[in-house]
Amino acid sequence: MDYLQLKNDNKQLNYKEIKEGKLVLKSRPLFFWFDICGMCNLQCKHCLFHMQGRTSNEDVSDRIYDIVMSELMPTAYKCNLGGTNLGESTISKKFSRFIKDCSKYKVKINLTTNGIYLNDQWLPELLENLEVIGFSMEGFDEEYEKIRGKKWSEFIANNKKIIAGKKAAKNNFQIEWRYCAHADNIHQLPEMIRIAHDIGIDRIQVMNLVPYMKEQKYKNLFYHRSSANKYFDEARKVATKLKFNINIPKNFDTGTFELTNKKIKTALQKL
Ligand SMILES: C[S@@+](CC[C@H](N)C(=O)[O-])C[C@H]1O[C@@H](n2cnc3c(N)ncnc32)[C@H](O)[C@@H]1O
Ligand code: SF4
Repeated sequence: MDYLQLKNDNKQLNYKEIKEGKLVLKSRPLFFWFDICGMCNLQCKHCLFHMQGRTSNEDVSDRIYDIVMSELMPTAYKCNLGGTNLGESTISKKFSRFIKDCSKYKVKINLTTNGIYLNDQWLPELLENLEVIGFSMEGFDEEYEKIRGKKWSEFIANNKKIIAGKKAAKNNFQIEWRYCAHADNIHQLPEMIRIAHDIGIDRIQVMNLVPYMKEQKYKNLFYHRSSANKYFDEARKVATKLKFNINIPKNFDTGTFELTNKKIKTALQKL
């Protein structure tokens, strides 16, 4: 079966249907999200599972897996693997099989992972099929360890393994850090860019902490606006200097003492 031809035909049909404003499509998704594992090997302090448990304590069932294989994989270009549930794809019993299926169906993988479990048996094939690998993290050294309960050195060693593997695999995929910023770790952002740049990370995506637990409410940058803006600005400068690809949220509004309100202005002029 020529899967690339099948994907191309499906894409053409998809574009045609969009142009024609079709509401019911015959074409299949060009990409999709897939969570194959409900379990996780970490217990990060900020993770929603503390409040509501894992979405499941199992791997994806054979029934759903087979449907994805037959209905989506032949025509899709990309699978966003993991990141939309509270599990960790790499520890799934089906992880290795899924990589092989991506290879067979020519589907590229955009993986979101905590990056703690790397298995030499599936690693080479994963590297061949990646488009993006995003490592989730919350700062470095003690800030990383405080949230993830794992050694920063272990995380970095696994990052370096992927970076070295990328060169060997000759597959030019992107390696990202998905950095969850909060009140305690935001000061690390500028230095984090230097570390990422030095070891060969391609990009950092900065996300604000969502405080799921009420005790974490004031860790949200919303309550530390001036400080967050200061480090955002500094980080932008470092990134520009190093030509480093980073996506930082826009600065927070910190308000003003200028009397800009029209009504107040007019009232003041009348005094
Ligand atoms: C729930 S995890 C699942 C995938 C995988 N286990 C991982 O950690 O990458 C998906 C993403 O949500 C992020 N995340 C977890 N708790 C968060 C929070 N309270 N606020 C913002 N992002 C959070 C993680 O850092 C990760 O990038
Ligand atoms: S690794 Fe991901 S899913 Fe697991 S506890 Fe941490 S944030 Fe949650």
